[in-house]
Amino acid sequence: MKYRLFLALVVGVLVSFLILFRVSATPSAPILSATAAAETETSEAPLRELAQKRGIGIGTSVDMGPFWNDANYRKVLAREFKILVPENAWKFEFVHPTRDRYDFSQVETLIKFAQDNNMEVRGHPLVWHYSLPKWINEGNFSRDELIKILETHVKTVVGRYRGQIPTWDVVNEAINRDGSLRDTIWLRNIGPEYIDMAFQWAHEADPQAKLFYGEYMTEEINQKSDGVYTLVSGLLQRGVPINGVGFQSHLGLSYLPRLDSLRKNFDRFNQLGLEVQFTELDMKIQDGKGSLEKRLAEQAKAYRDLLQACLQAKKCTALITWGFTDRYTWIADVTGEVEAPLIFDPSYHRKPAYNAIKELLSSNGNG
Ligand code: XIL
Repeated sequence: MKYRLFLALVVGVLVSFLILFRVSATPSAPILSATAAAETETSEAPLRELAQKRGIGIGTSVDMGPFWNDANYRKVLAREFKILVPENAWKFEFVHPTRDRYDFSQVETLIKFAQDNNMEVRGHPLVWHYSLPKWINEGNFSRDELIKILETHVKTVVGRYRGQIPTWDVVNEAINRDGSLRDTIWLRNIGPEYIDMAFQWAHEADPQAKLFYGEYMTEEINQKSDGVYTLVSGLLQRGVPINGVGFQSHLGLSYLPRLDSLRKNFDRFNQLGLEVQFTELDMKIQDGKGSLEKRLAEQAKAYRDLLQACLQAKKCTALITWGFTDRYTWIADVTGEVEAPLIFDPSYHRKPAYNAIKELLSSNGNG
């Protein structure tokens, strides 16, 4: 009897201790890492698996800061995504900081991670007007010198990974809103043929790689996408090797592309024999209307609509987001706004947009 009483007492103390501990421990526990741990461990099929079954690649850009510092970031990245795009590490200023020196260390950290996790790395970008080192911008080089510099850069970077990088963004953002060629250091000093040259050099350096032109605000049929259409048609006519067009798709709830126009746009590029991809998709919500819940639901629908357009297109081969967690997004860095443009929240919880993508990928038809 005494023993039973003792046992009841011990159990009672234990239970109340547990209850007390739970109540008092919950608020002070590190909420972010606790919830993140729960989200990163799941037995459900990841997006990359579902997407593969539907014949498209799902990917994300990866920035070095979070990659190095946040284990949950790496965990979700490896679990959910098949395509890894170095967000900055391959840009001219980082990979080729001085004329005689290349620095491949960051890129190769990412390549190693991708290999370990059965992911594919997408090259981005070889020729861009932005993110150039001082030695280029202030070099006052002659036309011939600049051609040589760009040729060496493209061939060195692409050639180093010959056979390993299935897709490269060769030329990025070369067109203005009105469809004309953007005034860049390359256009000014070399002339419009810098674009043909870049594709040719990239092809010589890795004949197997698929070569893309990338642009923003070209999702719909408009003057800018007409400019891209004219440019790539010209490349094809001249026999310049190009395989696809990337639509960056930095979007917001107040400027979503009209779907009928996007579909027609994708179709005309496909008709040329080119692949299309969403290459940098993100979607701001602060410019939308209504409660947070409503805006997140709108965001989810828009992500789903875009994915559906890709699945229904003749040859849309990838959907790549520019980052994957609202914890780290370039928009916040650039504008200082608190934004929520991606498919995981800052604690790595799946947002409605994630669920919408997942649901469409899991369904049998194209939605
Ligand atoms: C952005 C990165 O996300 C930022 O971290 C960096 O500071 C600037 O570049 N179009 C592109 C991307 O092709 O490379 C850009 O990435 C976003 C716009």
